[in-house]
Amino acid sequence: MKAVVYARYGGPGVLRLTDTDIPVPGDGQVLVQVRAVSLNASDWEVLRGKPLYSRIGGPFRPRHHVLGSDIAGRVAATGRNVTRFKSGDDVFADILSSMGGFAEYVCVPQAALAPVPDGLTYEQAAALPQAGAIALQGIRDTGRVRPGQKVLINGGGGGSGMYAVQLAKLAGAEVTGVDNAEKLAFMRSLGADQVIDYARKDFTTNGRAYDLILDLAGHRPALAYKGSLRGRYLYVGGSVATLLQVLLIGPLIGRAEGKKIRLLAVRLGTQHLAPLVELYQAGKITTVIDRRYGLREVPEALRYLGEGHAKGKVVVNVD
Ligand SMILES: NC(=O)c1ccc[n+]([C@@H]2O[C@H](COP(=O)([O-])OP(=O)(O)OC[C@H]3O[C@@H](n4cnc5c(N)ncnc54)[C@H](OP(=O)(O)O)[C@@H]3O)[C@@H](O)[C@H]2O)c1
Repeated sequence: MKAVVYARYGGPGVLRLTDTDIPVPGDGQVLVQVRAVSLNASDWEVLRGKPLYSRIGGPFRPRHHVLGSDIAGRVAATGRNVTRFKSGDDVFADILSSMGGFAEYVCVPQAALAPVPDGLTYEQAAALPQAGAIALQGIRDTGRVRPGQKVLINGGGGGSGMYAVQLAKLAGAEVTGVDNAEKLAFMRSLGADQVIDYARKDFTTNGRAYDLILDLAGHRPALAYKGSLRGRYLYVGGSVATLLQVLLIGPLIGRAEGKKIRLLAVRLGTQHLAPLVELYQAGKITTVIDRRYGLREVPEALRYLGEGHAKGKVVVNVD
């Protein structure tokens, strides 16, 4: 089979398309013929080994040699003790812990797989897992957004931001999206009431306070968020310095005023996506696929995402 592999951390130039053996499904595993993979910031981070947390499991060299974690495709074979799936089933999964999606085939534990929901294409199913789980938990489960609240989504024009802006609007919030200038119109098209270009304005000094700040790109000192918060701040991704501060001093900042500064540790996996899938099937939220690429174009696709051009999702179709 064809797969896009890499052996050392670096830019898209370290990736190469190669021929390799089709993996054999082990006990409880399913061999999936990959049809679509959506890209996430985590692919870009684990490609480059930056921020440092992306090197967990492989401090000097990548632990997994094939990236790609949000997949959709068709069951090609099953290993022993697989009871929930059979050849020909259409499935999707988040395989962040093992990766391997940028290939024609990948083995996935059956517990990680779910049937492609009715009415969704492979591309639409592949777009959902990681970005959808972050948005769902950030806005609904942990963020607990209620009507009339003011919500700011930092990084609102990316993959998770695309769903988060829509979910916050559905919950009745007034939404501010922050991202680079290229993505302001995109965030408005998703329903954002206000948009801020992060290169021109610092939302932590604009005098406004938010009930929820969902931070998909946290790069400030944790203390900087205190003044613009009247509820909860959730760090999802960004710099290690911000992450450490959120973990170490976040619980102390603003405690007396009822403010909460915390890490959102996202529970990943298709089993957490049911509410999002329902909204999707009811036509209440949508996925915007900004660009589509083929397997041999994975380096370009990752570069496009990593350089900050992607509005919504980027999908690789594997034929
Ligand atoms: N906490 C958890 O459990 C967990 C689980 C999975 C993933 N993650 C993390 O979640 C993060 C977000 O993922 P994603 O897929 O939504 O990423 P994404 O699609 O790359 O979106 C992030 C957005 O933030 C923007 N951005 C960058 N710097 C910014 C800044 N200073 N201010 C405002 N916006 C900025 C980016 O634009 P430009 O860079 O182009 O300007 C991009 O539009 C990743 O870092 C990933 O590692 C966390």
